[in-house]
Order: sequence, then structure tokens, then C-alpha cells
Amino acid sequence: MFPAKETQKLVEPVRLKVSSTRMLTDTVRELVFVGSDNGTLAGYTPGAHVKFDLPAGERSYSLIDFAAVAEDNNPASYRFAVQLEVQSTGGSSYMHGLKPGDAVAVSAPQNDFPLVASKPALLIAGGIGITPMISMATALAYQGTAFRFHYACRTQAAMAYREELAAQFGDNLTLHFDDEPETALDIAALAASMEADEHVYVCGPKGMIEAVKSAMEAAGISQDRIHFELFTSAADQSGDVAFEVEVHATGEVFTVPPGKTIVEVLEAGGIDLIHDCLRGDCGICQTDIIDGIPDHRDVVLSDSEKAEGKVMQICVSRAKSARLVLDL
Ligand code: FES
Repeated sequence: MFPAKETQKLVEPVRLKVSSTRMLTDTVRELVFVGSDNGTLAGYTPGAHVKFDLPAGERSYSLIDFAAVAEDNNPASYRFAVQLEVQSTGGSSYMHGLKPGDAVAVSAPQNDFPLVASKPALLIAGGIGITPMISMATALAYQGTAFRFHYACRTQAAMAYREELAAQFGDNLTLHFDDEPETALDIAALAASMEADEHVYVCGPKGMIEAVKSAMEAAGISQDRIHFELFTSAADQSGDVAFEVEVHATGEVFTVPPGKTIVEVLEAGGIDLIHDCLRGDCGICQTDIIDGIPDHRDVVLSDSEKAEGKVMQICVSRAKSARLVLDL
């Protein structure tokens, strides 16, 4: 499928250094990294991300490719694009402050958002959610698999890679701009036009993912054909208040203040937890609720599962009751 090169497995963490940077828009910065020894890097599959170990904590960014790369293929560099968040918690502002030659430690690439092999694809990207989609579209084009590619953004000026994508993907690509109503993204129409074996992939803000999931489910698309990844954490909302979490196995009680997640508080208290994305889209941290009312902030659970209130994603979700008792 892809040209294979000599395989080289890297042991975590990997040391990288900034090779080059450029501003793609007023707020989106592209960063290209090479190995600190200028050697080749671990290969990966489309949709993969790398976790950066930054002073403010761990942050994940998707790998971008305009030329096909495979897991057994060792690239010379990794490319990322990072949007400077208005309320940066130290991740995007740090990435925007890096200079050529600066070093960072990262994990080996992981993929929680893989393409389903040989199936036609509908790709829907919102804003900086474009990053994993570029690698996916590149691979689909390389493989000769049919795909439709929709990319929505606030304005033309705010859209990263607009010209490169138009040149590379031609008629497969349709652009949508919030300030140009005639280009509006019609999610219901896309859902109605799904081919029998087509899979949909969506990466963007929470509202876009929820809208695509709802439209696809209403059009009868089975859940195994709907794939999604959030580009930011859905955890924080204004008006958040503190609540208590009781660990059922030990009876220990922890207070989760605004601005902290259940995972952060419990891990700081010495509780071992399993998690991955920390954004509310992978489902790894799902935990049974023994008592209390959750305030769901994830995009994993269906509306009916959220209403049942029996499980929750503790990396982002909070509580509507004063205390949650969790099956931990
Ligand atoms: S760690 Fe992925 S949903 Fe919580």
C-alpha cells in the first residue's frame, strides 16, 4: 500500500527539536519538528496524534501529512498546527512561543481516530479540527478510496491550509465559511447522502460533533460508521462549582473545584486511574456511578445513556449533585 522503509521503534519519551515555524492564520501556527539527533522518527497511521510533555502538562496534537506516511515508514519530521486559544491553559501559548532549535519531549504516535480500511469516507472538519483530517484525506487519495471532504471555519482568513488543501484535493474538497451563508455546512443533507458502506469522520468543536452524530443517527447510520475526535477539552464551563467525589472502595472523599477535573483531583490524591484523551471523546475513563447526578461534558455517550446517568467520563464530566459516589 505505502512504500515501506526500514522500521525503527522508538522508546518513550522521544526528544524532538523545532525545525521551522510559520503562522498559517492570525492564530494558527504550524510547527515542524525533527529528532533531537536528526534521526528518523516513528511512523504512524492517518489520524494519529503525539502527546507533548509541556510545563503546563500533557497536550495532544494531531500529525499532519500532505504526503502519505505509514506505520512502518520512518519520516524525517513531524508537522503540527496549533491554534492559540483565547483562554490558553499553557499548552497553545507555549507551543506558540517555541523557537527553532527548542527541544520538547513527546510520546510515540498513537491513533485513537483511525480510518476503517478500504471504506469510502465522509470527512467533516471544523476549525483546527482539520489537522487529523489532512492526513486521512492524503491517505484516502493515495489509496484510491472514494472520499468527500468538508471543512468549515469562521472566515476565509481564519482557515488554515485553505490554498494547500484546495490544490491537493480539488473536487473532493468543499469549504464552508460561517460569514458566507451560501456556503453553509448542511449536515442533514450530508447524512441523507451517505452511501451504504460509507463511514463518517468528524473532528471539531463539541457542538459540531454532537450535530453530526445526531444527524447521522437520525438518518439511520449505525454507530460503528460514525467516528469522531474533539480538538479541545469540553471540561470547563462558566458557572462551574465545586462538588465532592466519594471513592466507593475506600470511602475517601475528594473535593473537585472549578477548573479541575475528577481525574486531576483523584490522581493528585493517589488514586490510580485509566485514561487517554482527557478530552471526553475516547471513552477510556468511563466510570460507573453508584450515587449522584452527573453533568455530562463528553461526546462519547448517547443522549439516552446520558439521561440514564449510570456511567460518566471522569476526565471532563462533573456533577449536578453535591456528591458523586463512583465505582472506583
Ligand atoms: S480519557 Fe478519553 S473520554 Fe476520558
